[in-house]
Amino acid sequence: MTQEEFFKKIIAHSKEYGFIFQSSEIYDGLSAVYDYAQNGVELKNNIKQYWWKSMVYMHENIVGIDSAIFMHPTTWKASGHVDAFNDPMIDNKDSKKRYRADVLMEEYLVKIEDKIEKEVEKAAKRFGETFDREMYISTNPRVVEYKSKYDSIKERFVTALTNNDLADLKQLIVDCEIACPISGTRNWTDVRQFNLMFSTQMGSLSEEASTIYLRPETAQGIFVNYLNVQKTGRMKIPFGIAQIGKAFRNEIVARQFLFRMKEFEQMEMQFFVRPGEELKWFEYWKAERLKWHHSLGIPKEKYKFYIHDKLAHYANAAVDIEFEFPFGFKEIEGIHSRTDFDLSSHQKFSGKKIQYFDPELNESYVPYVVETSIGVDRTFFSILGYAYNEEKLEDGTERVVLKIPPMLAPVKLAILPLVNKDGLDELGHKVFSDLKYDFNCQYDEKDSIGKRYRRQDAIGTPFCITIDHDTLKDNTVTIRYRDTMTQERINIEKIKDLISDKLSFKTFLK
Ligand code: GAP
Repeated sequence: MTQEEFFKKIIAHSKEYGFIFQSSEIYDGLSAVYDYAQNGVELKNNIKQYWWKSMVYMHENIVGIDSAIFMHPTTWKASGHVDAFNDPMIDNKDSKKRYRADVLMEEYLVKIEDKIEKEVEKAAKRFGETFDREMYISTNPRVVEYKSKYDSIKERFVTALTNNDLADLKQLIVDCEIACPISGTRNWTDVRQFNLMFSTQMGSLSEEASTIYLRPETAQGIFVNYLNVQKTGRMKIPFGIAQIGKAFRNEIVARQFLFRMKEFEQMEMQFFVRPGEELKWFEYWKAERLKWHHSLGIPKEKYKFYIHDKLAHYANAAVDIEFEFPFGFKEIEGIHSRTDFDLSSHQKFSGKKIQYFDPELNESYVPYVVETSIGVDRTFFSILGYAYNEEKLEDGTERVVLKIPPMLAPVKLAILPLVNKDGLDELGHKVFSDLKYDFNCQYDEKDSIGKRYRRQDAIGTPFCITIDHDTLKDNTVTIRYRDTMTQERINIEKIKDLISDKLSFKTFLK
């Protein structure tokens, strides 16, 4: 499936089956803003719950908060967002499209990497078992040429970003002959910085309105509450504060569906540690977070780390967990060692002491912070994209099935009486009433059983229970499994235990 087909299919399926709607669609929508529909909100809530349980309930030393979106404007001065939360943008004068200059360069570098990998794969096939990858990369003339081009461009790119040298960033785009994907021309404007924060006014004119911002990350709500939580929770370092909430960024580059939105949700955790121990904890959280992604049951090779070359001014280590979307490996989570930058800065700007007295060391210090920050919407998109399967069945028919990890599926169980008469419908309603306390169930009696199975496949329901005339005689039902489409006969009394076992977070989190 090409990138374009993928986006088209996922967007169409999301709308048809009630996962995602474009925001204010009746007014032709709002760019890069989306609504979660009846099935989408269930999947989203399940993802959030799975993260919350794994971070807050599974750790004795992590607690959660829910801070306000609006914060005192000085917060964003202290955090550096007012002065430095910018993206370097460049416009193509012919298509009038705006791009992130750094993303254009990163994509160009990935293309060179792909060329190297293709050469290596071809050679590996040619030489078979005797193939020495390292030797080939360092000696094959074509690969050496690609590699040297890659290294020199990358070095110049990193230097331009580090020095905020926008003129050279533009020159690189010109030198690499990067063309606009829409117009195909290289008619570029200069690169300019755009601040990504949305601002609004708080208070009325008479009481001197002040500019406040919609938070661009949830993390600052945690930093400013560090002392409150530490004191009221009697937390001892190392400890963490977790939060799930909305964040807002005026992203110029749209057209990426849920990947890059203007209003999105983050699940962040700040882990407060002793200065000097942050890199040990950074490694710990890197491993833990990758394990969490793997626990979803999606193949491990779909995830990889991307180590940052250019560190933000406050970080001394940073890594992304990337997921392989049909449009390439892309970031879904960032893990950053943020040093004491944020707490020290809030200490300075607020004039309040933000420190921890460490009884073991008998000294006070500003704690260092390791942050894990994952996007709810990107996780949702990665799961939806991976789960979407078009299958040709043995009887020649086709089905679209969402193979969503069962514990995250919007509807867990569909109850389907074979016909809506002879008492089967009544029994169906009774089964629904008995199981509704444990699972999000759906009762459906319309259309043929085949059509009803397809409808449940399309929203990713892992189990369907069919009630037929035998049920009235022997109290057994047919349970049908979404992924294999196999069926078995079980006693009604056993449904709950059988399904609970397969859906329990415990099974996945352990
Ligand atoms: N507090 C650190 C922080 O905000 P980030 O890398 O800018 O770091 C963390 O964002 C995560 O938030 C990303 O890995 C991504 O999953 C998600 N995210 C960021 N911008 C987003 C956007 N415009 N749309 C959807 N998700 C976004």
